[in-house]
Amino acid sequence: MNISGNTVFIPGATSGIGLALALRLQAAGNTVVIGGRRAEVLAQLATEHGFATVRIDTADPESIRAAATQVLAEHPDLNVLIAMAGIMRVEDWRSDGFLADAEEIVTTNLLGPIRLIAAFTAHLQSRPDATIVTVSSGLAHTPLRVTPTYNATKAAIHMLSESIRLQFAGTSVSVLELVPPAVATELLPGQSESPFAMPLDAFVDETMALIEAQPDAHEILVENVKLLRFGEVRGDYAETVATVNRLDPHGNA
Ligand SMILES: NC(=O)c1ccc[n+]([C@@H]2O[C@H](COP(=O)([O-])OP(=O)(O)OC[C@H]3O[C@@H](n4cnc5c(N)ncnc54)[C@H](OP(=O)(O)O)[C@@H]3O)[C@@H](O)[C@H]2O)c1
Repeated sequence: MNISGNTVFIPGATSGIGLALALRLQAAGNTVVIGGRRAEVLAQLATEHGFATVRIDTADPESIRAAATQVLAEHPDLNVLIAMAGIMRVEDWRSDGFLADAEEIVTTNLLGPIRLIAAFTAHLQSRPDATIVTVSSGLAHTPLRVTPTYNATKAAIHMLSESIRLQFAGTSVSVLELVPPAVATELLPGQSESPFAMPLDAFVDETMALIEAQPDAHEILVENVKLLRFGEVRGDYAETVATVNRLDPHGNA
């Protein structure tokens, strides 16, 4: 993905990583359309930063279809989709009551990106140079004990990215997977205060530098995520799992 000159849609950019990346991409010379459920936040961000905005609930297939129609009508040169929207919940599979959360996490974190990508594939293939950006996590590779379904959806996003990259080979569409480590956002309550979370600005700075330096990369891996990403490759997976769960027993990730 080129660092500038794109028209980018980021559903999931009303806060956290999505918003920080939207601001950096806009500053780097891209047209950025942001999306999310909170209409009042979208309106405020449009006023403050000049973003184009689209209201979208990525847990709702009809909302995805309507938002895609709107985005493509208003921005026919759109060439980058960043499937950012996601949720994280702490679950305890030893007691009752986790199933509703588990289903919601799958709907938002896995079905959401699948439906989003499906809504844009025909259009993206019609552009000369397009990119689908998926957002997984270091937890796709090293599980955090307290967030089983979240970890599983991110592992699925990793393998989906690997798989559709094979299918889009030979087309104009590239697939880029962002693999964040723990970053200081409000993905989980209190996470922005966690000493284990990477500061948001540092994360997006490093991410932008990597995108610029490696326009053909398959994955964007900041240094902080390599511990989780490569445990199995290094041969110290069990130790990595133990370390991550010992360091951060309350679930910040
Ligand atoms: N922070 C981390 O440590 C970390 C680590 C690895 C991966 N990630 C991934 O990075 C992505 C962004 O997370 P974040 O940390 O920036 O969290 P965040 O600050 O909570 O942001 C989540 C964003 O997703 C949007 N969103 C959630 N559910 C949505 C839905 N149903 N429809 C539309 N938008 C929805 C939210 O917007 P509205 O509330 O306005 O809808 C918000 O803009 C997620 O996919 C997350 O899994 C984060």
